Amino acid sequence: MTKPIRMALTKGRIEKSTVELLDRMGLDTSAVKEKGRRLILPVGDRLEVVLAKAADVITYVEHGVCDMGVVGKDTIAESGGSYYEMLDLGFGKCRFALAAPKGTDFFAGYQSRTVATKYPNVARAYFERKGMNVRIIKIEGSVELAPLLSLADGIVDIVETGTTLRENGLEVVEDVMPVSSRVIVNMASLKLRKQEIEQWIARMEAAREEQNG
Ligand code: PRP
Repeated sequence: MTKPIRMALTKGRIEKSTVELLDRMGLDTSAVKEKGRRLILPVGDRLEVVLAKAADVITYVEHGVCDMGVVGKDTIAESGGSYYEMLDLGFGKCRFALAAPKGTDFFAGYQSRTVATKYPNVARAYFERKGMNVRIIKIEGSVELAPLLSLADGIVDIVETGTTLRENGLEVVEDVMPVSSRVIVNMASLKLRKQEIEQWIARMEAAREEQNG
C-alpha cells in the first residue's frame, strides 16, 4: 500500500468547513475533531490531515511535503508560488476591497495616495492594473486603524460582512477580487499520484455540490 495522501488545512474557519465536507464524504474525521495539540491527523486510512497557518499551507504544498492543501484565495493571491489551484470549495466567501473614510473621494485630485494593507502584493497588482502610482504601507493587523490615524488615505483589506468598516467610519470604494477557499495541489504529486488526487478532487467537488443543494 502507498502512503496516504497528505492534505494541509488552514487552521480555524477553513479547517471547520473542510472537516464538514470530509464528513459529508463519509470519512472518519474524529481524530481531527478530538485532536488536542496534535498537528498530523489520520482521516480514514487513505488521507492524512496537517493543520497549519494559511501561508504555511502554501509552503508545505509547494515543497511537496503535503500533496494537497485547502487555503483561502486571499493567501494564494498574496503568496503566489508554483502549485495547481484545482477547486473552488465555495466556503470562506469574502472579498478584497479598497476602502476609505466615508465621504472622501479616494480617486479625486492628482496627488499621490497612500494605502495600508496586510496584502501588499494584492494591493500593488490592483493599482498597477488601474495605472495608478500608490504608496503601499504593510500593516500586520487592524489595517482599519491606518486611515483613522492619518497614516493612509485608504486600505485594501478583506471585507466579509462590512461591519468592521462601518464601525470605523470607512466604506468600500471598489471591490478588488472575490475570495473563497480553494484546493491546491503539489505539481509533482499530481503527476505521480494523478488518479488518487483526481479522485479526491472529484469527491470533494461532489460533496460541495451536495452542500450547495
Ligand atoms: C478580517 C479583515 C477585517 C475583517 C472584516 O480580519 O481584516 O478586519 O475580517 O470582516 P467584516 O467585514 O465581517 O467586519 P479577520 O477577522 O479575519 O482577522 P485578522 O485581523 O487576523 O485578519
